[in-house]
Amino acid sequence: MKHFIKETDFAAHELPGLFARARSLKQSRGQPGSAVLAGQTWAMIFAKSSTRTRVSFEVGIHELGGNPLFLNKNDIQFGRGETIQDTAKVLSRFVHGLVVRTFDHQDVIELAKHSTVPVINALTDFLHPCQIYTDAFTAAERWAAPGGDLVAALKGRKIAYFGDTCFNMANSWILGASLFGMKISLSGPQAYAPGAEIRAQLKADGRAVDFQFTTDPYEAVKDADIVYTDVWTSMGQEDEEAQRLTELKPYAVTAKLFAAAKPGALFMHCLPAHAGEEVEQAVLDNPRSIIFDQAENRLHMQKAILAALALPPKA
Ligand code: CP
Ligand code: NVA
Repeated sequence: MKHFIKETDFAAHELPGLFARARSLKQSRGQPGSAVLAGQTWAMIFAKSSTRTRVSFEVGIHELGGNPLFLNKNDIQFGRGETIQDTAKVLSRFVHGLVVRTFDHQDVIELAKHSTVPVINALTDFLHPCQIYTDAFTAAERWAAPGGDLVAALKGRKIAYFGDTCFNMANSWILGASLFGMKISLSGPQAYAPGAEIRAQLKADGRAVDFQFTTDPYEAVKDADIVYTDVWTSMGQEDEEAQRLTELKPYAVTAKLFAAAKPGALFMHCLPAHAGEEVEQAVLDNPRSIIFDQAENRLHMQKAILAALALPPKA
């Protein structure tokens, strides 16, 4: 049984098939077909807010013939202190899979350890793997020849990531770039440089620590095929907002910074965006901004992931 908790939970050789399945599910949406979750209920435990992840998983599970069961963490006993271990064991008796969004990444690892059904990480403070797979798919759609290998289209491409380079999106892109054979340069204040945890994760996965970090955004953006940013104040960091707005300001993606990337470069953002903070409105509106394709593709990629993880019906 496979879980999807970090980018490297799929092996490199599994990616072309997974991405091709997402493309085929996208093309065939609305036609009768893949009901791989028929008879299944998937619980979605969310301890943080969500628009894209919640809706794309609920719709995706439904479209695959399954039943999504949304559980706000505070509505179940988990929010009153029932252990992760017991929650995993009990839910595994009822449902066929778990989708979890929470703060501490170790909680998702612990949940998976005690679960007898597949667990999908729907964002932790450390990683957001569903988003990175979708982002890679979305960029590859632009670069691959029609019907061509999407994953091969990513190889050797460069992503430049700006702002908070030590939280979930940056960490996930560091792991993702290593998996997809991409180059990554991150740029932010030194105090926000990628931390020990992501270096340890790369080592644990047997991957080279080969990302670049610079405090000079114009150095990072040079030759970039993708310019990427995320909010400066992530969920759970609201108390630090004033300080973050000041410290991260030099790393805003302005039209000038975007223009310094490779000609034809794409602008990407996981959303929600705060225009006027981490990115200028003009960049969000640029014809090479693919932010809403990214949002839509969450549905198609997550359906492919669900289909890959779903256990066969019990005999
Ligand atoms: N990008 C993303 O995960 O958005 P939500 O927080 O709305 O789910
Ligand atoms: N870094 C953001 C991502 C939201 C999808 C957060 O964790 O709030």
